[in-house]
Amino acid sequence: MVGMGPKKAPSRRGSYADVPHSLMGQINKLEYLFTVSGEKLKEITDHFISELDKGLSVEGGNIPMIPTWVMEYPDGYETGTFLALDMGGTNLRICEVTLPEEKGEFDIIQSKYRMPEELKTGTADELWAYIADCLQQFIEYHHEGEDLGKLPLGFTFSYPVTQHYIDHGILQRWTKGFDIDGVEGVDVVPPFEAALAERGVPIKLAALINDTTGTMIASHYTDDMMKIGCIFGTGCNAAYMENCGSIPKLAHMKLPPDSLMAINCEYGAFDNEHLVLPRTKYDLVVDEESPRPGQQSFEKMIAGLYLGEIFRLVILDLAENPDVRIFEGQDYNKLKKPYSLDASFLSAIEEDPFENLQDTHDLFTSKLDLRPSKPELELIRRLAELIGTRAARLSACGVAAICKKKDLQPCHVGADGSVFNKYPHFKARGAQALREILDWGPPPEPVFPPAAPGGGRLARRGSASSQTNAPPKEPDPVEVLPAEDGSGVGAALIAALTLKRIKMGNVAGIKDPEAMLKLFGIQQEKRTVEVR
Ligand code: BGC
Repeated sequence: MVGMGPKKAPSRRGSYADVPHSLMGQINKLEYLFTVSGEKLKEITDHFISELDKGLSVEGGNIPMIPTWVMEYPDGYETGTFLALDMGGTNLRICEVTLPEEKGEFDIIQSKYRMPEELKTGTADELWAYIADCLQQFIEYHHEGEDLGKLPLGFTFSYPVTQHYIDHGILQRWTKGFDIDGVEGVDVVPPFEAALAERGVPIKLAALINDTTGTMIASHYTDDMMKIGCIFGTGCNAAYMENCGSIPKLAHMKLPPDSLMAINCEYGAFDNEHLVLPRTKYDLVVDEESPRPGQQSFEKMIAGLYLGEIFRLVILDLAENPDVRIFEGQDYNKLKKPYSLDASFLSAIEEDPFENLQDTHDLFTSKLDLRPSKPELELIRRLAELIGTRAARLSACGVAAICKKKDLQPCHVGADGSVFNKYPHFKARGAQALREILDWGPPPEPVFPPAAPGGGRLARRGSASSQTNAPPKEPDPVEVLPAEDGSGVGAALIAALTLKRIKMGNVAGIKDPEAMLKLFGIQQEKRTVEVR
């Protein structure tokens, strides 16, 4: 039937034909600044591998490589009812997850609470009170009058948290624009539990987890080829399973060398020494003006929180530069407000299907009171592509580094986060970069060939989905796929795995196993590993 085929993403050919020479020069400069070659990606990946190793060493390095005390993959037969709490960048989500007898199945009910913006720069007390109030509301709404005993909770707190125990953790530093006083350097669990106790909320924390660890575990629950969990969102990071024998900084714990330990890499901190990343002057400004200069260097080039800001800084520079002066004669004051443009602004530009970039023009008018000329619109579009492509290509280095280090090919990588899920072409660009880094040979068709130099027609701009008529291709040796819900199902599974291993006598990384046994009414079955 006509019109019933697979939906083809609109593509735009674009043209630099009417871009004047001077502006074309600027486009070329930006292309030079923001393009990362395959060779450079390989160099970054190699350095990444040595930094991952360094992070596991006793001396440590830039990348924290945090042992999380998640010591096994789920087998699909975990059961029980658990709460999961996810403190994300914009929302607080509370879930009740039921893991039934059936392998790999789960049921979930959930509520979302908006995190008030002022909380992000408020006080620790306000933060814990807010979270406890939301939990209380959730329990009252779903279980009014019921005697719940103590419900085990998996708390996804997605920041660099040093974990000597799975149920405790010290926040090293805030990331993603948070700046709440009195939490850094402190164990986050006691004040959180105190706020719950104050309200008489019948919940006990069983595991404190990172979103990446949750993502890896939840994804593995339904697909055992999933070996890495990644987030490409407001922040960026990954987790994978390491052998305890390959973690020198845990040697003193004398864990069986072949037992597993999930590592929260916290690789947003990669290259804080600034040895390999091709930072532009705009990246330097993003860093200097952030609440934590010198931290999260990798994250600041690729994560959603920063993409719009990098774009804004470039556009502002081109408006102010006397040799360029885009938006000549217009008031570009609105462009001066830091963080006024977010990654969705860039996404919308990249998604504009019209040859004359009318949607982009309208976006600039509604958001910034600006009316870019057609050539300026071409520059704007190209800049968005360059920033989005650089982010996807650099992101691939972290994934490639883990795959190479652990010799994981073939494997699946579970990915989540707003950039991965919503940013146009992110997946295809990342896959292309992985192909270049890991030497899989040429792709069937390049996703984004470089623009024709000096004007003329632009290369075709399609998307993976516009190639629907191509014959099915062999899967890549490393496939980055949409993950299962890490901070809901993943957190619940980790709580379940923790209780399961306490029951089996593996109490490594549990602060007070006796208390846990009592609290959750668990009978210990046998003692296998008993390292604390
Ligand atoms: C945090 C990580 C987190 C990542 C993705 C980073 O800013 O430090 O803990 O996994 O964002 O949410």
